[in-house]
Amino acid sequence: MNNKIKNLVLKKNKSKITSLTAYSKPIAKILDKHVDIVLVGDSMANVLYGYKGTHKINLRNIIQHSISVKKGVKKSLLVVDMPFGSYKNINLALKNAKKIFKETKCDAVKIESNKKNFKIIKILVKNKLPVMGHIGFTPQFKKKFKIEGSSKKEEKKILKEAQLVEKAGAFSIVLECLSPNAAKLVTNNLTIPTIGIGSSIYCDGQILVTDDMLGISGFYPKFVKKYADLQTVIEKAVKKYTRDVKFKKFPTSNYFLNGTKHRK
Ligand code: KIV
Repeated sequence: MNNKIKNLVLKKNKSKITSLTAYSKPIAKILDKHVDIVLVGDSMANVLYGYKGTHKINLRNIIQHSISVKKGVKKSLLVVDMPFGSYKNINLALKNAKKIFKETKCDAVKIESNKKNFKIIKILVKNKLPVMGHIGFTPQFKKKFKIEGSSKKEEKKILKEAQLVEKAGAFSIVLECLSPNAAKLVTNNLTIPTIGIGSSIYCDGQILVTDDMLGISGFYPKFVKKYADLQTVIEKAVKKYTRDVKFKKFPTSNYFLNGTKHRK
């Protein structure tokens, strides 16, 4: 376990953990100044590539984007999602996780729980490959969206699953779309930090998809707070640019190169 992970785990019960997603260097560079964790999420399937689900994103896509993100990350913990199908069995999971760590130089991988793959987490951790778990609404394995943990019985089941993820050696766990009671129960009964998305205030930290909170993804579930409306900002700029070009206001002589450097 590296120091970044140790420090993150120490935040439990002390200060809230902040996390956002990034798929490229420019965004990662901005996030890195502020958040504890930068996640290269397989949500890129919906957000960047326009697919309906996350299944069409493969290992190559994830690695390519993570290499870009890594260039913008210095201080935050870099976590990379293992895409659907890349951890179907122990050997494949180990081979692919090693490839992700080697090529992206990330700090950890994230694996969605299907209530059976605890052994995979265990083997990766045993091989010194840190793992973040992910339970609740896990898009790789569940088609129909539903808030999980709405009854006492469900709360107990979720707690058991979270405890098995912890026992397998995960250093942290994402709780996606759990009821407030379930999120509280899991957070209070685990020693590792819980990172919530749509799972109330009772988690040790929070994560959102950056494009959602910046108002540029076009998908805003109720749990997303929009901190900006970048779609409007970009639209205004693009409109102004096209008008300038049409009316020959750009490029004026100020924008001629005159020996200044071009981007390398
Ligand atoms: O893929 C992703 O962005 C995620 C977060 C929503 C937790 O898994």
